[in-house]
Amino acid sequence: MTNYIFSNHDTTALAKKYSTPLYVISQDIIEKSINEIKTAFENENIEYSINYAGKAFLNTAMAKIVNKNGINLDVVSEGELLTALAAGLPAERITFHGSNKTDREITLAINSGVGKITIDSVDEIKRVDTIARSLGKVQKVHIRVSPGVEAHTHEYIQTGKTDSKFGIPLSQAIQSAIMCKEAENINLTGIHCHIGSSIAAVDPFGVTMRVMLELFYNIRTLDIPLTDINLGGGFGVVYLKGDTRFDVNAYTKLLRKELDSYIAKSPDKTVPKIMVEPGRFIISEAGITLYTVGTVKEIPGIRKYVSVDGSLADNPRPALYQAVYDAVVANKYDEEPVECVTISGRACETDTLIKDITLPVLERGDILAVKCTGAYNYSMASNYNRLAKPAVVLLKGDKDELMVKRETVQQVMQNDVIPSWLEE
Ligand code: LLP
Repeated sequence: MTNYIFSNHDTTALAKKYSTPLYVISQDIIEKSINEIKTAFENENIEYSINYAGKAFLNTAMAKIVNKNGINLDVVSEGELLTALAAGLPAERITFHGSNKTDREITLAINSGVGKITIDSVDEIKRVDTIARSLGKVQKVHIRVSPGVEAHTHEYIQTGKTDSKFGIPLSQAIQSAIMCKEAENINLTGIHCHIGSSIAAVDPFGVTMRVMLELFYNIRTLDIPLTDINLGGGFGVVYLKGDTRFDVNAYTKLLRKELDSYIAKSPDKTVPKIMVEPGRFIISEAGITLYTVGTVKEIPGIRKYVSVDGSLADNPRPALYQAVYDAVVANKYDEEPVECVTISGRACETDTLIKDITLPVLERGDILAVKCTGAYNYSMASNYNRLAKPAVVLLKGDKDELMVKRETVQQVMQNDVIPSWLEE
């Protein structure tokens, strides 16, 4: 019998050692993806920085991996910021994002010395400036604009179009840059955009780059010495056989082409530094989730439901975005796929994890490995049905150790308090 090997580890043995449901993350695969992006930029001789989008998957050990690999981090909340600082990531390498930052978060970000705050709306310019002044600091900022580009992805994760809660509409970008220039405690050094997530094609980024270069130029002519263009993240990955993996080499080639034509025609010879913020591309394929099969229910002539010990609480993406996943039976990896089943979660909800997948015959106790779950699974997990969140184990070479302990039901209950009138 052959077991499924992921990143040099026997997944059935991992399930036995750490129990299930279990998130498994491979540091080797994370580093491979980071290096792929680095190489693509270096090959095209583009000055760049990679800001990993922590929202995809973040905990203290992950922030340490970011630090070790010399890349930067994008955070969107006090929780993400404090996690990064606890991991020893220099604040200077952190960018603080968010479409509705609280005063407390802005104060914490400035006081911690974050490299940049990405201003997401016109009213935030004044708020960041006022808080920076009260702290006696000058904060570097970028402004996030919505470049009006529509990428082909799920509507909920399409964020670069003008009708969006994110970013400053292009029509207000110049006015916003002038407001930043007039504000004394902020220093505008770049412009930012993010056109969406899970984008397979590189073309939308070429159009975006052109829009951003034009804006970069127009803002610089106002005597505002911008140096950076941040193009956001959104690089797609392979969830199912046949999906197109985002071609980072084609992407950087396209950026090089746009940069060259900008340099050729622009009287301003300043070449912007290009920043990218991939989350999914770095972490998705580095993660799998292991589940144990429980109830198997056959409805003759209709469908066979195979329930696992996880649910939409550990992977809400199929329910939220109709996301599709591939899976293998870890302990029957060499067996022929012979029957089409539907994999369901254990929540009190029709939480289909995978509809219609052909696998070897599944029985109670088998281990199912769902692939490509590194991004937006652990980070979006909930305690629905008062289910405790799974543990996360990190693999590196032939080593495996926990990076997040399994939550206990006691921890789920720990913030419960009894109002006085309910006390006996
Ligand atoms: N930068 C900004 C400003 C973003 O808003 C995002 C994602 C990223 C970077 C990283 O995007 P990525 O490279 O991971 O595609 N929960 C959804 C995805 C939401 C993405 C939100 N913003 C999902 O599970 O598909």
